[in-house]
Amino acid sequence: MSNKEKFIAEVEAGYTFKGASIVLGGAMLDATPLQSVQVKVPLRTLNRHGLIAGATGTGKTKTLQVIAEQLSGAGVPTLLMDVKGDLSGVAMPGSDHPKIVERCGHIGISWHPTGNSVEFLTLSGEKGTRLRATVSEFGPVLFSRILGLNDTQGGVISVVFKFCEDNGLPLLDLKDFKKVLQYLGNEGKEAIEAEYGQFSAATAGTILRKVVELEQQGASTFFGELSFDVQDLCRIDENGRGVISIVRLTDIQDRPKLFSTFMLQMLAEIYASFPEEGDPEQPKLCIFIDEAHLVFQEATDALMQQLEAIVKLIRSKGIGLFFITQNPTDIPDSILAQLGLKVQHALRAFTAKDRKAIKLAAENYPITSYYQTEDLLTQMGIGELYQRP
Ligand SMILES: Nc1ncnc2c1ncn2[C@@H]1O[C@H](COP(=O)(O)OP(=O)(O)O)[C@@H](O)[C@H]1O
Ligand SMILES: [Mg+2]
Repeated sequence: MSNKEKFIAEVEAGYTFKGASIVLGGAMLDATPLQSVQVKVPLRTLNRHGLIAGATGTGKTKTLQVIAEQLSGAGVPTLLMDVKGDLSGVAMPGSDHPKIVERCGHIGISWHPTGNSVEFLTLSGEKGTRLRATVSEFGPVLFSRILGLNDTQGGVISVVFKFCEDNGLPLLDLKDFKKVLQYLGNEGKEAIEAEYGQFSAATAGTILRKVVELEQQGASTFFGELSFDVQDLCRIDENGRGVISIVRLTDIQDRPKLFSTFMLQMLAEIYASFPEEGDPEQPKLCIFIDEAHLVFQEATDALMQQLEAIVKLIRSKGIGLFFITQNPTDIPDSILAQLGLKVQHALRAFTAKDRKAIKLAAENYPITSYYQTEDLLTQMGIGELYQRP
């Protein structure tokens, strides 16, 4: 058996699964696509989460689209976080350009452009269904993050939330929250200290100023009673295709803390309101977080714990989470370890630090006689990716 025949046999054996699957692309050996040898992912594994990594411009967002479209075709709804505004294209049928038809022939897939059922969601003034959440729904950890508070200040926030919960005070919007803080820093100080211990009026004052700053950034529109039910994310259209919901985040991308926290709030809400599913044949919903490094930027310990717990537990609700980022090292180890599917696009080695990161990324994959993983990671072209079953 030639080296090529051996490779084909191994790939075919490795990517033959029971049950439905989606196609990532055609297998390649020595930079040449092999006809009709496909790299696939079984649908039943997609609630084990995933990572799509690679340098800027190597095809991560395109891969995300390819996966989301196939999921839609299989009746699985998806939620895409569109940070750069380059995901809206999935609403349009693709073109059957001769180049694409030729390429599909090489890979051995038949592909027909189809339109998708797409629903746009927005956090701000852009067109689409408006997402909002109440301050209570955010909870103390996420609300502290939005305000950029330190641990001591975060502790005060926790007490305020507890006080409101115990006393049946609703915290709907920022106005409600300011009123409660003002009250607790003045005439309510005694009441809260009697039950919850010392309450620093000075810290309350600092927090109040931060809330005002947040309002000045135009954040008031994000807070308020929910106008959106997360169960709506699980719709199937009249052709049996899963609806693709796209959250447009472009107009607030200069405020990463705000939107990444909103994203986390949404995950928490989804986690809280979906029933247990065990390990279903196919996921109930898949969520793709593009530019995921923003989620982990400046994350506090409390936030990381919350996120880790959600990633771990949301799986049994039949929900798959996919993080899209430049380097696997952008994602904390505790979360990285929970991501089943790892799709790696090319990495670029400009600095010594880059080379180290590439070495680390390569070490995550088993050794093979067909190529040097480390070299492959830097040599792949746009749209080419590395994946192991
Ligand atoms: N499989 C592919 N075939 C052809 N062109 C591709 C493919 N994947 C990506 N591209 C093109 O490469 C460019 C960068 O892709 P993109 O997915 O936006 O990269 P990233 O998200 O990694 O920055 C885009 O213009 C896209 O159309
Ligand atoms: Mg991208």
